[in-house]
Amino acid sequence: MGINNSGHILSLKKWIPPPPFMTTASAPGKIILFGEHAVVYGRPALAVPVTQVRASATVSANSSGGIWIEAPDINLTCELAQLAPDHPLAAVIIGLFSALRIRQSPSCTIHIESTIPVAAGLGSGAAVSVAILRALSAFLGQTLSEQKVNKLAFEIEKLHHGNPSGIDNSVVTYAKPVYFIKGRPIKPCRVGTAFTIVIGDTGVPALTKESVGALRELWGAQTSHWDKVFDQVGIIVREARRSIERGDTAELGKLMDSNHALLQQMTVSSVDLDRLVISARKAGALGAKLSGGGRGGNMIALVSTEKAPSLAEALRAAGAKRTIITTVQSN
Ligand code: PMV
Repeated sequence: MGINNSGHILSLKKWIPPPPFMTTASAPGKIILFGEHAVVYGRPALAVPVTQVRASATVSANSSGGIWIEAPDINLTCELAQLAPDHPLAAVIIGLFSALRIRQSPSCTIHIESTIPVAAGLGSGAAVSVAILRALSAFLGQTLSEQKVNKLAFEIEKLHHGNPSGIDNSVVTYAKPVYFIKGRPIKPCRVGTAFTIVIGDTGVPALTKESVGALRELWGAQTSHWDKVFDQVGIIVREARRSIERGDTAELGKLMDSNHALLQQMTVSSVDLDRLVISARKAGALGAKLSGGGRGGNMIALVSTEKAPSLAEALRAAGAKRTIITTVQSN
């Protein structure tokens, strides 16, 4: 198989590897700690991997002569050729073949599984792309640099989100806390003292594309006002980075609360998110905020390790559909 200039798959000579050849790879979820939305407008953001949830891809040789995709989580089993070239799963495979200048179609099955909730701000799309890129390149006997994986995954993020900042694919690829500014080299964020975050899911699916688009309209109508709001977020993110480096969780909690207030102004919070944020603070959180695109999806609360289980319980009592307790540390 080959790819022509318009991204369409051409039928070339088939490569049938000897069964039971198989490769597998996985990638973690992620959560944004600070700076979502403002990051789209060039301000910094902080995000960390969430290793409790993962996407994995397994590529195994078959004798069909084609590429089969199995993604039971989204009820999808089909041949690659049946998907539109801009379907995110097809695009990741086609993008990889094009980057690696693959001339012969492998005969294989790509099995994708993920425990990362979809459309919840946990980086599910990026993690699936990264897992496929790694498993399929290994299957083809090629090594892709982290930088290349990140770049290819970013192209797919554009299909998911329209105009993404690139933060999701970066955290998921490097699987470490990052200080991110759109278009600049990714900087790691050193964590002075490990700290605990509880993630609470409203259970309301929300498309990042929509909240980003709605804010863009507001920004278009009152650009200088929103630029000032984004500047305030930028100040919070820089302070948060310093607090994380110093291990100052009390200060970090206050910064989360301030960031949430600015996200409310941006109209990307929701009744459900606000209820969980307030419940978290009442249950002893040092600070809490929505995380990601907002209007649904997840919120996060910073809490001492000892109080994390009771805080998670309080969030579920307040309506959270699921909670994840995760530790943020340098790795
Ligand atoms: O909803 P998530 O976690 O994929 O995050 C989106 C973050 C935004 O800043 C709202 C958009 C972006 O591309 O950075």
